[in-house]
Amino acid sequence: SFLDLVVDQNVYIDGFGACEGTLACSTCHVILDQKGYDQLGPIIDEESDMLDLAFGLTDMSRLGCQVC
Ligand code: FES
Repeated sequence: SFLDLVVDQNVYIDGFGACEGTLACSTCHVILDQKGYDQLGPIIDEESDMLDLAFGLTDMSRLGCQVC
């Protein structure tokens, strides 16, 4: 996932991925461009529910722990 990439590359983003990919936060919120968004699989209900809590939600939003 994108979260794994951030962790593996030791990229520090304050608070990013707080729940370590268990869909219990929205700190891994990312906003993609249309091309990137269209390449991803569908959003599952649990991701959608957590995305609703994300700050600055857009039509191109996903959770970084759920996309790769
Ligand atoms: Fe918490 Fe993605 S890291 S929902």
